[in-house]
Formats: sequence, structure tokens, C-alpha cells
Amino acid sequence: MLVAPSILSADFGHLARDVQAICEAGCDFVHVDVMDGHFVPNLTIGPVVVKSIAKAASKPLDIHLMVENNTFFVELFADIQPEYISFHLESEKHPHRLIQKIKSYGIKASIVLNPHTLPEEVEFLLEDLDMILLMSVNPGFGGQSFIPTVLEKIQRLKKLRDARNPNCLIEVDGGVSDKNIQALKEAGADVVVAGSYVFKHASLKEAIASLKV
Ligand code: DX5
Ligand code: ZN
Repeated sequence: MLVAPSILSADFGHLARDVQAICEAGCDFVHVDVMDGHFVPNLTIGPVVVKSIAKAASKPLDIHLMVENNTFFVELFADIQPEYISFHLESEKHPHRLIQKIKSYGIKASIVLNPHTLPEEVEFLLEDLDMILLMSVNPGFGGQSFIPTVLEKIQRLKKLRDARNPNCLIEVDGGVSDKNIQALKEAGADVVVAGSYVFKHASLKEAIASLKV
């Protein structure tokens, strides 16, 4: 399992320190939640702060856009050269076009699905995608409870993924901890995002290791 701690639960007064710490503790990606106050009822950070995160990080960035104007934000973040940019299917009229735009910058493209969105919605985009991110909470806040129906959704998506593009990773975001990591693994997740579980743990290293099943 690859592990992407979400810096939403970090101490924003000591962001560089916390980013360095999760990288040294063995994470695979640094998950960065970008919220615009429109698509989700919360507001986080823009390119100035994300640039500082990229500078502090010794692991690649995984940017999760929770915004209405995806193209605008993709253009803002292209310079930073994250490993992945994920955008929500629910906020994009032309997902296929936006995938090509992200890839034209040499960045891997990923689509996020909210808890209610069917995995079949991305069936004909799978060949173009590097990752699909399934929300296991409603986007907007850290520290929410895991929605268990996502396990069945991972299994359904995995069948489509294996048939159409085995290289496309399945990532899960929200309420992930040592309590559900085994079930996520068995269902077919390749990458997990974890915010509060990692940052509230007494040891970042132990928290990340406990998710690497
Ligand atoms: C929620 C974000 C998540 C969040 C996860 O909108 O996308 O990345 O930080 O936090 P936890 O792991 O606390 O649910
Ligand atoms: Zn996220």
C-alpha cells in the first residue's frame, strides 16, 4: 500500500517542519487539499503555500483539487510540477479535455469521485487516467468517519480498472486508519490518504508503517 498523508491535519504554523517530518517518516506522496470555498464549504491554500510545501517535501506531491474552476487551478499549479493533480468529476463539464491538459504539463492525471458517484462514470476515461481517487468521506474537512460503502465501490472500480488500464492506481481518501486499512487492501486500494490518523498518532513513522499493509 502506498501512503499519502494529508497536510490538512498538519500544524499550519509549522508547515515546512511537518512536511519534512512525514517525508522522513516514510510516506510515498504528500497529499495537498486545495479547497475554494465554493465546491466545498471550506477554504485552504493556493499556489504560494503549495510552492513552500513542494520546497520542503522530499517526496512527490499529490494535489487534490476541490474547486469549481478546475482549469484555472490546474494552470496555477502546473509550474509546481506535482506528481498528480486530481479533480472532481462532479465539478467538471469536460473531464476528458482536462485530463489531456494536465498530462500536457507532464503531470499525472487523476479524477476524484464523491461518495455518491458511480465508478462506471469513469469507465471510458480509464485508459487516459493515471489514478482514480474515491472519497470515503464528503470532501471539505479532515477528521470525518469512513463511509463503509466505498469498499464495494473499490471492488467494482477494480474490475473496470483491471480490464481497461491496470496501470491506473486506485486511491482512497477520508477516515482511513489502522482500523480499516486491511479491508481497503482486500477491496483493491493501491494508495491511501490519511490526515488525522497520521498527525494525531504519537509517532508519524509508526502511523505510516501501520498503513503499509
Ligand atoms: C477531505 C480531504 C482529505 C482529508 C482527510 O476533504 O480530501 O484529504 O484531509 O482527512 P482524514 O484522514 O482526517 O479523514
Ligand atoms: Zn484529499
